[in-house]
Amino acid sequence: MIIAGNFKSFKTREGTKEYLEKLEAEVLNSSSEVVIFPPSTALQSWKGKVSVGTQNAYPTENGAFTGEIGLEQLEEFQTKYILIGHSERREILKERDKFIAEKFDFFTENSFKVILCIGESLEIRREGEEKVLEFLNRQLEKIDLSKDFVIAYEPIWAIGTGITPTLQEIDSILEKLHKLSGKKVLYGGSVKLSNSVEILSLPNCDGVLVGGASLEPLDFAKMVSIADEVQK
Ligand code: 13P
Repeated sequence: MIIAGNFKSFKTREGTKEYLEKLEAEVLNSSSEVVIFPPSTALQSWKGKVSVGTQNAYPTENGAFTGEIGLEQLEEFQTKYILIGHSERREILKERDKFIAEKFDFFTENSFKVILCIGESLEIRREGEEKVLEFLNRQLEKIDLSKDFVIAYEPIWAIGTGITPTLQEIDSILEKLHKLSGKKVLYGGSVKLSNSVEILSLPNCDGVLVGGASLEPLDFAKMVSIADEVQK
């Protein structure tokens, strides 16, 4: 199981360090993979059970890319995990499938563990599962499925809203993504301590990508224990 926390634009460098100390103590003996994604300014060289990944980076060693970071900056923290294709970057920062595929190729070639995020809008969900799958397929079209990576299925309408698809809807999509890609598939979108047992117990769920509910280390640690308990 993979339990990942996306801090988005929350927490400082100091706050992330305190968080890591608390989380590490709680999950030390976990059998799950535990990763947090703090903002770039809070990246840390952390050697322990918990891994620290980056929410974003530019597909370059270094160069003239104002406001971005590349491999050189990530190497300073031995960062090896990266989120690619998050819906907030697709929607707000206007990242397109072609650029997402470029990032994907660059970071997989540089031995990063990529969590590739995909997910549909509410408009598409309302058209039914077939349309959702067509859309997700299109988001994967330029992605080289022969590479080693993890998929996070995050329906946009479930992110930060407190609303999730039904458990059957989640499992059905995860199952199809599994079959299509042969990769581990995580679910993300309003995962909380209160719904994490049901979600993590779904037969096709390999873990969760948690936003808001990952900000509190003890709650996040409890999700990790739940993942250990329901381990398939
Ligand atoms: P929430 O858990 O806050 O809904 O965010 C999910 C997410 O976007 C994780 O990447």
